[in-house]
Formats: sequence, C-alpha cells, structure tokens
Amino acid sequence: MRLKTNSGHKSGKLTRRGFFHILVALLASPAILWWFMVGRRDMKMSARQQSLIIGKAIPPGVSFIDFAIVINNEDGVSAFEAKCTHLGCRISKIEGDQLVCPCHGSRYNLSGKPVKGPAVKKLKKLKIVHDPRSGEYIIHKNE
Ligand code: FES
Repeated sequence: MRLKTNSGHKSGKLTRRGFFHILVALLASPAILWWFMVGRRDMKMSARQQSLIIGKAIPPGVSFIDFAIVINNEDGVSAFEAKCTHLGCRISKIEGDQLVCPCHGSRYNLSGKPVKGPAVKKLKKLKIVHDPRSGEYIIHKNE
C-alpha cells in the first residue's frame, strides 16, 4: 500500500495531480515575477514623481501636465491634481470653462468645485511655487 502525501507524491512517486501542480507553479512563476517587478517599478516612479517643474512660461488658460491641471487666468496660476474625486480617473479634457472627467462625466469649474456629478468632492489643490531665480514653476503633489 502506498501513502499519499500533501505534496502529491505517493511514497516518492509523482502523481498526475502533483505533476500538474508543479507545472502550473512553473508556468505561473515568470508571470508573478514580472508582475512584482513592474509593480515595484511603478511604485518607484510614483515615489519619484512628487513634483513637477514647469518651464518659465505657463500658457494662459488650462494645461494638462502629467498629474496636474494648471490654470493660468486673471486670478493667477493655480494647479489641481488631475484625478477625479469620484473614482480617480484622469481628467484631461476641458469643455467651455469646465473640466470634464472622461469616465462618468463629472464636471468641475476652474476652482476645482464639482458642478455636475457623480463627483461631489473638490479636486485636490496642489501647491505651486514660482522660483524667481530660474523663473520656473514647481508643482508639489503631496503638500
Ligand atoms: Fe470621474 Fe467617475 S471617475 S466621474
């Protein structure tokens, strides 16, 4: 009589089930490794991407620059995170004077306040600093 173990072996002999478990593990391990590496790389990129340096001239109106929406109007220069407060889609479109989320149609005015749902919270305002020496603008994501 042969004893079956949890590893799929019968007294040292590999069963069909054990063979398939090993085969699945071998086939899945490169995918798991790739997922882990890509995930780690994205984390490093997002950790690095905490500020944006914009050149000397910010064009009038609305600009979508990386993670930011930069507004240059009669009130001055301001910036919001380009992340919809509903479910986090990236806002990259303006219609008239409203910022439009492509996912479910939320709209925000140029002060970041929602004027049409489903979003109900304001866009996150970003700190923007002007460096008088270089003339550049620096937008900070997490301040
Ligand atoms: Fe923007 Fe839903 S994620 S409206």
